[in-house]
Order: sequence, then structure tokens, then C-alpha cells
Amino acid sequence: MQYSHPFGLAAGMDKRAEALRGWESIGLAFSEIGGVTMLEQSGNPKPRMFRHGGDRALVNRMGFNNPGSEKIVQQLRRSGPRSIPVWANLGKSKLTPIDEAKIDYSTTMNRLWPFVDVFVINVSSPNTPGLRDLQHGDHLKGILNACIEVNQTNSERENVPSKPLLIKVAPDLTIEQLEAVVDEALACEIDGIVATNTTLERPNQSSKIYLEQGGCSGSPLKNQSTEMIRHIYSYTDGKLPIVGVGGIMNAEDAWEKILAGATLLQAYAGFVFEGPGLTKSIVHGLHNKLKHSEFETIADAVGSSHRS
Ligand SMILES: Cc1cc2nc3c(=O)[nH]c(=O)nc-3n(C[C@H](O)[C@H](O)[C@H](O)COP(=O)(O)O)c2cc1C
Repeated sequence: MQYSHPFGLAAGMDKRAEALRGWESIGLAFSEIGGVTMLEQSGNPKPRMFRHGGDRALVNRMGFNNPGSEKIVQQLRRSGPRSIPVWANLGKSKLTPIDEAKIDYSTTMNRLWPFVDVFVINVSSPNTPGLRDLQHGDHLKGILNACIEVNQTNSERENVPSKPLLIKVAPDLTIEQLEAVVDEALACEIDGIVATNTTLERPNQSSKIYLEQGGCSGSPLKNQSTEMIRHIYSYTDGKLPIVGVGGIMNAEDAWEKILAGATLLQAYAGFVFEGPGLTKSIVHGLHNKLKHSEFETIADAVGSSHRS
């Protein structure tokens, strides 16, 4: 796929797919809706999102509050023509047992298929009990195969190409676990990895929000996420496209992730602390970085820290 620049919206900001026009109008290259689950669910009780302005950090335990994939389809039908690709983040309904997770993911994918350009299998949210276990072994294989089948069936029926399918990973995986996910992704010919979701780690215990349960994102996640990108890139020799997300607050952070190996980038916390102008400052900032670098295009810069 072609993108006008590398920067898009991370999952979780537009859980109901209500603001597609807005994401286009602030200049993003793509947006990601969801997490969407098969069943409608209200998520965890409030309060469930906490912010630390000084650290530019968030802790959240939203728990996939969303209207469910049937209602999301109605919303997408109403949303009209698009000017940027729309991705969907697929989660598992809380009520669905882990052993039936593949039905949950593939049902949502099947429902959304006609309306979405890229699918992200999210097995890395810390806020649905047991979800992160789906990153391992037969669970992951089962989910990937079920989603690949839905992709193939729809593409054959509509006589159009199949759609890119990505896996989103947690920053808390060990190196061995990460490599196992990547091996599975390569074996199933998955199109890329989104690195990363929120972390269970905390930068310190000195602030009240860090004692809250949930996943931490924003600046404290930045290096952990970049190191994962770096490792995936070197482990795969740059053969698997990586979407870099975690603590991108400015063009410098974005550039760092590109050099480490990210082809596309996303942010959530950055928009909370910097506002919608973040897109413009990152896109202009990246343009400047490129101008003062030895590279002609962003694609040339991807993974270049591994070559220097
Ligand atoms: C309130 C909130 C809700 C989120 N919901 C989702 C989600 O539904 N699915 C998902 O894959 N990631 C979700 N995320 C994670 C983000 O997409 C992103 O991976 C993470 O926040 C790191 O990026 P950041 O440092 O730019 O925030 C959520 C994050 C926040 C803060």
C-alpha cells in the first residue's frame, strides 16, 4: 500500500469509528479504529484512564469498551467515502473463552472486511484477562489461520486482493517470546508487526497513577518500544514491515523509530498531550530530518541504524 507519509492514529482513540473525517482532516496518513470485539461490551468501571502531564504518560485499563462489530459495521456504512486507509484493531470479547478466541477475531474480521483496508490482530492488550496468552503457541496459530481464511474467502468472493493482516505485540514479551511470535508471523505470511501495545512496567512508583492497574503508554514506553522494533528488524533482516508505536511525542521520536526499523508510525498519548497539531509537527519535522540526512526517501531511512 502507498501512504502519503508514515504517521497515523493508534488504536483505542476511535473505538467506535466515529471520527473518520476528523482523522483525515488533521492530516494523518491512516487511522485505526477499535479495538473492536465480536460482542458489545462496556469495558471496565470508571475511572479507567489516568494521566501524568509532567511525564507525558498514560495508564489505562479501558477493557475494550466498544459497541461490538455488528454496530461498528453500521457506523462504517454511514461514514461515506474515505481519503485515507482505515485500519481495524481486532480484540477478543471478555465473555468469549480463550479456546474460542479465533471465532471472536475471525467473526469481527468477516463483518468488517468490506469496510476496512488493514486488519490488526491485537493479542497484546493487558486489560482483558488472558488476552496476552494468545501471543503464544497454538492459540496464535489458530487465530491467524482463522483470520487468513476469512481474508481469502472474502477476497475470492469479491474478486479483489486480500487485505494486509498485522499482529500487535506487547512490549513486555521476552526476546524468546517475541522471536516465537515473529517466527509464527513469517510462517503464516502475515504482513507485518505493530510494536507495541502498552506496558505493564512503570517508570517509578512515585506517582499515584503508576500504582493504578493497567497498561502504561506515552514517554515512559518510548525506548522499550523502540528496542522491540530494533530487535524485530534485525531478527528478520528487515523483511517484515514494522509499525512503530509507543511514546512518539515529536519528530525526533518518530525519526528514531524509523531508523530502528519502523516503516509506519502511530501515536495515542502524543495526541493527548500535544493535541491535533502533533501530525503537522511530525510530518514537517520528518521532512526536515530527511532533507538534512543522506537519504532521499523515508523508505531509504527505514532500519538504517542497523547499517551504520
Ligand atoms: C486509553 C487507551 C486505549 C487503548 N486501546 C487500545 C485498543 O483498543 N487496542 C490496541 O491495540 N491498543 C490500544 N491502546 C494502545 C495504543 O494503541 C498504543 O499502542 C499505546 O498507547 C502506545 O502508544 P502511545 O505511547 O503513543 O500512547 C490504547 C491506549 C490507550 C492510552
